[in-house]
Amino acid sequence: MAPSNVAVIGLQWGDEGKGKIVDALARRSKYVVRFCGGANAGHTVLIGQDKFILHLIPCGVLSERVTNIIGNGVVFDPVGASEEISELTSRGVHIGPDNLKISANAHMVMPWHKQADVLIEQSLSEGSKIGTTARGIGPCYADKANRSSALRVGDLLDTKRLTERIRQVGAAKSRAFQALYDAEPIDVEAIVSSYTELAGKLSDMVCNTGAILRRAVRDGERMLFEGGQGSMLDIDHGTYPFVTSSPVTACGIPTGAGIPPSAVGQVVGLIKAYTTRVGAGPFPTEQDNETGEYLRERGKEYGATTGRPRRCGWFDAVAVRYAADISGVAELALSLLDVLTGLDEIKVCTAYRIGGRKTDEFDPAEMSAAECEYESLPGWSEDICQCKRFEDLPEPARNYVNRIESMVGRRVGFISVGPEREQTIVHNSRIEGLK
Ligand code: GDP
Ligand code: IMO
Ligand code: MG
Repeated sequence: MAPSNVAVIGLQWGDEGKGKIVDALARRSKYVVRFCGGANAGHTVLIGQDKFILHLIPCGVLSERVTNIIGNGVVFDPVGASEEISELTSRGVHIGPDNLKISANAHMVMPWHKQADVLIEQSLSEGSKIGTTARGIGPCYADKANRSSALRVGDLLDTKRLTERIRQVGAAKSRAFQALYDAEPIDVEAIVSSYTELAGKLSDMVCNTGAILRRAVRDGERMLFEGGQGSMLDIDHGTYPFVTSSPVTACGIPTGAGIPPSAVGQVVGLIKAYTTRVGAGPFPTEQDNETGEYLRERGKEYGATTGRPRRCGWFDAVAVRYAADISGVAELALSLLDVLTGLDEIKVCTAYRIGGRKTDEFDPAEMSAAECEYESLPGWSEDICQCKRFEDLPEPARNYVNRIESMVGRRVGFISVGPEREQTIVHNSRIEGLK
């Protein structure tokens, strides 16, 4: 049963191209499951000329016969989800209770979470700001842990209780924001009316998704877990405090989906051929120079959710090996290799120097002081966007892939050489659905 399940986990700071590989694997899956994060994600799927950017809705909606699950570990924004569903539907994508199921236990993002996200960021000094997506993610997970001030998706099913909870929690938040940030009072009744209307639109998709998935585990039905964010943004294992607020490695799947660890299946670790980061925090291989600009322009590295320019730098083999070890990665998928075309030399970080000491161990707490030691590899100038087989790649590109394999200690089974579905090389993969 479990071995045919697959998880796609980003091993860097997000935006590794999860949308594309999830789309490739979704067509062979019965379920596509989101288990972490929320509308902070932006997953791009290109189908012919049609570009879709999904935030809360799993990428499996773009494939037929897939049941898409928003698991209990997600923080669910009904306003954003409703807009996303309307947009997708207007573009001919079918979304209904038959192919989208939302966990009643997922926590609900409320307008005051988005407001708090902005107010908290504004109140922080330069150097302390996290550079969040302002989607209310951190404040919603904080209320989840707090318990007394939380609303869950299941509250949409009982309008009387929903109204009471919004009035009760909203009034308390309003008082707190006025006292702490001198904010305007919250219009609680406006939230009651918008959330009651959203309940009407969404409640037939709300259910016990954990029970559905555990039944699917028993029946041996194939699941694909769609990671959000990237491992370096993980609340526990990332570059804290410059992280997101949920567990985003493969370790977050059992809790966030409600399935046993043994059902996670094979973990595909997704890496970009270089590194990007949006938002603040340590980034040892960052190239705040012409190289970084080259990568940003060729890779169109602007946030899919916020439009912010992404910070760009070289591939960091130390960080990726650490992330791969945490998630128990079976195989790597390498994306955006085409972006490196045209560089004379390509650098890879193989170790750090921290206060005069050399190390090849990644310790998130030390990253702000880390200086990189690089290995330099020759680049290539040939356009690789149409390559279909590993052998079609120029020799320096093949060497680069081989070097990544040896540094991270895992095979690269999937290589993406462009954003489109066809721009893909499957290379000795052992993953069900890819090989
Ligand atoms: P995600 O959050 O991990 O799903 O990644 P994003 O969608 O935020 O960012 C990845 C971007 O790279 C999107 O614009 C994709 O269309 C694009 N992309 C994915 N794979 C490739 C590739 O192999 N080459 C190029 N040039 N672009 C790619
Ligand atoms: P996908 O799934 C890249 C980053 C934000 C910020 C930090 C905290 O598309 O890879 P948050 O709003 O979560 O509290 O912000 O995390 N971040 C992402 N960066 N890709 C993402 O998702 C991200 N989700 C959150 O930029 O630095
Ligand atoms: Mg993204």
